[in-house]
Amino acid sequence: MLAIRKRGLKMFVLALLFIVTITSFLLNYTNNAVIVTWDPKHLVYQFSEQFKKLMKYTRRPCSCSTCISEEGVSLWFDERFNQTMQPFLTTRNAFMPVESYNWWLKLQGEKNPKGLNETIHELFEIIPGDGDQLLERSSSRCRRCAVVGNSGNLKQSQYGPEIDSHDFVFRMNKAPTFGYESDVGSRTTHHFVYPESYKELGENVNMIVIPFKTLDLRWVVSALTTGTINHTYLPVPRKIKVDRNKIMVYHPIFIKYVYDSWLQHHGRYPSTGFLSVIFALHICDEVDLYGFGADNKGNWHHYWENNPSAGAFRQTGVHDGDFESNITLTLASVDKIHFFTGR
Ligand SMILES: *[C@@H]1O[C@H](CO)[C@@H](O)[C@H](O)[C@H]1NC(C)=O
Ligand SMILES: *[C@@H]1O[C@H](CO)[C@@H](O)[C@H](O)[C@H]1NC(C)=O
Ligand SMILES: *[C@@H]1O[C@H](CO)[C@@H](O)[C@H](O)[C@H]1NC(C)=O
Ligand SMILES: *[C@@H]1O[C@H](CO)[C@@H](O)[C@H](O)[C@H]1NC(C)=O
Repeated sequence: MLAIRKRGLKMFVLALLFIVTITSFLLNYTNNAVIVTWDPKHLVYQFSEQFKKLMKYTRRPCSCSTCISEEGVSLWFDERFNQTMQPFLTTRNAFMPVESYNWWLKLQGEKNPKGLNETIHELFEIIPGDGDQLLERSSSRCRRCAVVGNSGNLKQSQYGPEIDSHDFVFRMNKAPTFGYESDVGSRTTHHFVYPESYKELGENVNMIVIPFKTLDLRWVVSALTTGTINHTYLPVPRKIKVDRNKIMVYHPIFIKYVYDSWLQHHGRYPSTGFLSVIFALHICDEVDLYGFGADNKGNWHHYWENNPSAGAFRQTGVHDGDFESNITLTLASVDKIHFFTGR
């Protein structure tokens, strides 16, 4: 009687182990072969390991084959990535601690800035002040993003169709697509700009303003209404033709997070390219990076320029290009992003 029950139990455990193993195999989560032995301790151990893996799988933050926000893949990454940081400035989080505010004020040495609270208040009377809907996660979501930098290494890359196949396509600053479609693609879902780097955006493109000073936020208000601001430290467009419901604001505190946590205070503040990469880590499940880094001759220039020595912008000392590039490559080496170097 006891022997039969024992055998029944063994069969039951085996069947369970079988099911769990097959399920996790089907879910493509395990690639270690399972060694079946009759040692009950070993069986229990294997069973619990498989069960843990299965549970981990069902608790995965997304449905892609890898999820950026998944913990435990890279300690280096987990030490830097802070999921609770809010990438967008919204009506609900428009508050800056004094320390962050003072840091931000120094970025471009703004003199006699207008009150920030007052400015933000005016701004959110004109634009919605949301962006939170982009942050909603779901374990059944697989949001694939392409972050397209402006490097000359995109020339003759033929990446266009691949870039366009992503759910989100991020571009930045003066990046044109017209005339470069086969290499850089034609779709843009979000475009990162600041007043001095603004270019006319296509219809339906979301504009993400990166504010480096209070005047940048005032410029958004002015450019959508009175058109009084035409100059910051450079001439800027008086008016912009963008649907005001499609304008979002990069949170100044998120800029500080990128600087503290990811750049560990290298350079004076992060470049637009680097800010876009870390932003994408926070709202996407998979990130593919195109158009970052030098071309294969070591030149730093934009893909729309013919002058290969036009990389002088790297030597201004504002951004630490080498450190930013090291972090970006490290993100790729720990499999959090894919880095496409051009062909
Ligand atoms: C993550 O960010 C939140 C604020 O958004 C902060 O309170 C928390 O301390 C941060 N965590 C780490 C580990 O830095
Ligand atoms: C904005 O208002 C909050 C209180 O609502 C205050 O603590 C903060 O110091 C103000 N910030 C600035 C830059 O004036
Ligand atoms: C900006 O506007 C001022 C006053 O309207 C004008 O004098 C100035 O020439 C303009 N500057 C540019 C760069 O358009
Ligand atoms: C980044 O810098 C560290 C420290 O200098 C170095 O060990 C590492 O190899 C660099 N990684 C890449 C991808 O360049």
